[in-house]
Amino acid sequence: MESVEWHSARAALEWQIELGADESIADAPVDRYALPQKTAKKAEAAAKKSGPVDLVKRDAVAEAKVAARGAGTLEELHAAMAAFDLCELKLGARNLVFCDGVAGSRVMVIGESPGREEDRVGRPFVGQAGQMLDRMFAAIGIGRSVAEAPIYITNTLPWRPPQNRDPKPEEIAMMKPFLERHIELAAPEVLVIMGNWACQALMGQRGITRLRGTWVEVLGRPALPMCHPAYLLRMPAAKRETWADLLSVKARLERGA
Ligand code: URA
Repeated sequence: MESVEWHSARAALEWQIELGADESIADAPVDRYALPQKTAKKAEAAAKKSGPVDLVKRDAVAEAKVAARGAGTLEELHAAMAAFDLCELKLGARNLVFCDGVAGSRVMVIGESPGREEDRVGRPFVGQAGQMLDRMFAAIGIGRSVAEAPIYITNTLPWRPPQNRDPKPEEIAMMKPFLERHIELAAPEVLVIMGNWACQALMGQRGITRLRGTWVEVLGRPALPMCHPAYLLRMPAAKRETWADLLSVKARLERGA
């Protein structure tokens, strides 16, 4: 009897890990038996209220465009993203990771998506890749905590994909209007596009080892694709090229972008 319970408990745990629940979020267990009744009542009430309208398939990209366009400040954009319910990543994330650093900085860095630490803390690039990112920009005298030469940081996706899986094309597409509005509102002189998924969102293409180092224009601003710091942690040999890219950013800033 005891071993059957052990096996079914283990199977239940593995099933949860497969769904993306790879860590506990509370010390006390949740009484799941209390939930179905409440949830059913809520669903019933919502169905009564909304009627047949919910049967119409919603266009996530179109709704994201309207919500993003309606935001006149970064605070409003943050609120619009928090209210956006059509991206399933939101369901599994603990926090919406919006930004770090100083809005209005000359340089804006676009990463990929929050990892476990970022999801826990609610700020981008706070884990190992974040430390690498700080070291990279410190090498050219700029950084999120450098008062006289700050940077501003965000991600392509604001919610952590379960178990850090790759973003899905539809997730990138529906969050892109928010990312573009974020760039417009932060109004940097220069964009640094880090890694394949940020390139996919802003340039419509991947292949960072080919794209890196060549300036492009994104939303009317100079933008430089660069290797993601997590890639540099795995492939230290790529640091040499990244150093050249960082010097290129520095030169651009010195020229007045
Ligand atoms: N990698 C990213 O692209 N973004 C983060 O916030 C953390 C790791």
